[in-house]
Amino acid sequence: MTLFFAGNWKMHGTKDWAKRVIEIDKASRGRDVHVVICPPATLIDRLASHIHSDNFAIGAQTCHAAEMGAYTGDISALMIKDLGAQYVIVGHSERRQAYGQTDADIKAKAQAVYAQGLMPIICMGESEQQYIDGTTLDTISRQLEGSVPVEPAKTKGYVIAYEPIWAIGTGKVATVENVEKVHNHVRYVLGVMGLGTKTPLHHLLYGGSVKPANAGELCALENVDGVLVGGASLEPDSFIGIINACI
Ligand code: PGA
Repeated sequence: MTLFFAGNWKMHGTKDWAKRVIEIDKASRGRDVHVVICPPATLIDRLASHIHSDNFAIGAQTCHAAEMGAYTGDISALMIKDLGAQYVIVGHSERRQAYGQTDADIKAKAQAVYAQGLMPIICMGESEQQYIDGTTLDTISRQLEGSVPVEPAKTKGYVIAYEPIWAIGTGKVATVENVEKVHNHVRYVLGVMGLGTKTPLHHLLYGGSVKPANAGELCALENVDGVLVGGASLEPDSFIGIINACI
């Protein structure tokens, strides 16, 4: 299966960062990988115009569930598509926490993304307390059932990212055993939801302090189809290092 490498730049990047995308584009050309960089919305248009590889795309980091309307400061999937992006991250824990987004909100956003013919990267993950309490699998089941819209996901595919909140930006990576256990569970729950089919359009990513040094063992797991990378996606060397470590 072709591995999937997504970079989430979060609130980093100005116009001159286009050269980073050009470097990543060159490094991924002709290789058996899917690569997506999700810059701030301000850069989508500019970066999309620099991409020449079929296996490289630009994504957004969030969207509103409505197409247009009186929502000051928000952007819609329609607008993101108009700028040339093909993916939209929805449900990242930083937005779930900072903006009080619920699973139902995430599902509505994912539906809006599918409706524009784009692909959502639907994120979920347990908090440190839930991890300590041993409720990780229950939390993930609830988030999967609550935030993944079944019908479009079945026919159009999905990118689902498991990102334990305590591992994001902290340098604490979940152990390989832990990632394996959760990803096996995700695959099982998706199966119960009627979304178990493993096709080239269905991807399960791991995210949380992924680096060139740990990416290889994570991507080697049967139910890990790639990684969602924050901090280490900002520098082309480390992002390309992650790709090189996995294929
Ligand atoms: P990190 O972020 O790689 O910096 O831990 C991952 C993410 O938030 O997607």
